[in-house]
Formats: sequence, structure tokens, C-alpha cells
Amino acid sequence: MTSINNTEGHYGVIAILFHWSMAFLVIGLAALGLYMVTLPDVGFNTKKIVLILYHKEVGILAFVLLVARLGWRVTQVLPQLVAHLPDWQKIAARFVHLCFYALLIALPISGWVMSSAAGIPVSFFGLFTLPDLVDSDDYLFHRFIELHKWLGYVLILLIFVHVGAALRHHFVFKDDTLRRMLP
Ligand code: HEM
Ligand code: HEM
Repeated sequence: MTSINNTEGHYGVIAILFHWSMAFLVIGLAALGLYMVTLPDVGFNTKKIVLILYHKEVGILAFVLLVARLGWRVTQVLPQLVAHLPDWQKIAARFVHLCFYALLIALPISGWVMSSAAGIPVSFFGLFTLPDLVDSDDYLFHRFIELHKWLGYVLILLIFVHVGAALRHHFVFKDDTLRRMLP
């Protein structure tokens, strides 16, 4: 049985739950983000507005989960990568993981700044409203739309690299990489 805590050879249950729940949320957020921006702005497009509101709330939820995940992560040993990997692949894998953590901080915060600059406060599932990070500012709003978009594109590219590598390890090299992230 998988233990609660990480071991040298396997991720623990909590890390696994964080990984898969966030993978699901983040892929959903990226897909929803790409889709909602294709909807026309003309008139009062309720569907677009509602989808953007969901995107913002779930995006903040992902941020809250990330903070909890990092808090848990620092209390845990980091499982070793499978032994046979060449050094450059070990460095590449850890670098991609590090980029994920950085992007999962930068994306929600850039989204939050974007909303504040647009003068639209971010609500968290109707429970409370987040404070504005900056004053309304049209120039900043447009800069942050661009920034958020490019951060999103980099994230999507890295997801393809990461998932491709995980599947290759599982089906081609038949090693334990994927199994270590499964219960
Ligand atoms: C991990 C979290 C997030 C991911 C992966 C993500 C991803 C994306 C992506 C891929 C787009 C489409 C960009 C484009 O093609 O133009 C987008 C748009 C957008 N996101 Fe996020 N996002 C996240 C969090 C947030 C948060 C927390 C907010 C606000 C509080 C937010 C606000 C927006 C808005 C307002 C747009 C539409 C921008 C426009 O009108 O062009 N996002 N997001
Ligand atoms: C849905 C397909 C996915 C698969 C099959 C997958 C698979 C894996 C595997 C096997 C590992 C362990 C790698 C190792 O230590 O050897 C891992 C780690 C990791 N994955 Fe994924 N992943 C997926 C999606 C994602 C997504 C969407 C994200 C970004 C939000 C992500 C972020 C991470 C991070 C940050 C780690 C490193 C965990 C740590 O050591 O702190 N994964 N993934």
C-alpha cells in the first residue's frame, strides 16, 4: 500500500492526490481559457462572461491548492528519478517540474493583476472577494492579457513535453516513472 508520505522510491498518497487533482484542474483551465477567448465580444455575451468567471474562480482554487502543495512538498523527501536516466534527462525533468511550479504561481497572479487592472474584482466562489492588486489601468490590463496568454502557451507546451515523457517511460522504456505517481 502507498504510504501517506513520500519515500525515496515513490510519491506518497498526499503528493499523488495533489498531482492528479491539479493536473486535471490545470488542463481544464488551459482548455477553457483557450476556448473562452474565441467567443465573440459583440454585445453582451453572457456565455463568455460566465465562462471567464468560472475560469477566474477555478484559477484561484488552483493557486490555493498550489500553496498547500508547496507547503506539503517542503516537508517531504523528494523521490529519486529512475536510476538509468542520463544526467541531462534528470536535469530536464526537474527543470520542467520547477517551471510548472513557477508557472502555477505566475498564471493565477497575472490573471488576478489583469482583473484588478480591468477594474473587475475577483470573487472566490461567491464566498469572498479578493483585494485588488493594482488600481484600474487600461495599459497594464492589456500588458497582462499578453503576459497571461504567453505564460499559458508555455505551460501547454511543457504539459505536452511532460506527458509525452511520462508515457514514453511507461510504454517504451517500461520503467517505474509513471507507477511512482500512481497509488
Ligand atoms: C493555473 C491557472 C490558470 C491557467 C492555466 C490559465 C490559462 C489561461 C489561458 C490558456 C487563457 C487563454 C489565453 C489566450 O489564448 O488569450 C486564459 C485567459 C484568461 N485568464 Fe487565465 N489561467 C489561469 C488562471 C487565471 C486566473 C486566476 C485568472 C483571474 C483571476 C485568470 C483570468 C483570465 C482571463 C480574464 C482571461 C481572458 C483574457 C482575454 O480576455 O483575452 N486566469 N487563461
Ligand atoms: C495528465 C498527464 C500527466 C502525467 C501522465 C504526469 C505524470 C507525472 C509523473 C510520472 C511524475 C513523476 C516524475 C518523476 O518524479 O519521475 C510527475 C511529476 C510532476 N508532475 Fe505530472 N503528469 C501529468 C500532468 C501534469 C500536469 C498538467 C502538471 C502541471 C500542472 C504536472 C506537474 C507535475 C509536477 C510539478 C511534478 C513534480 C512533482 C515533484 O516532484 O514535486 N503534471 N508527473
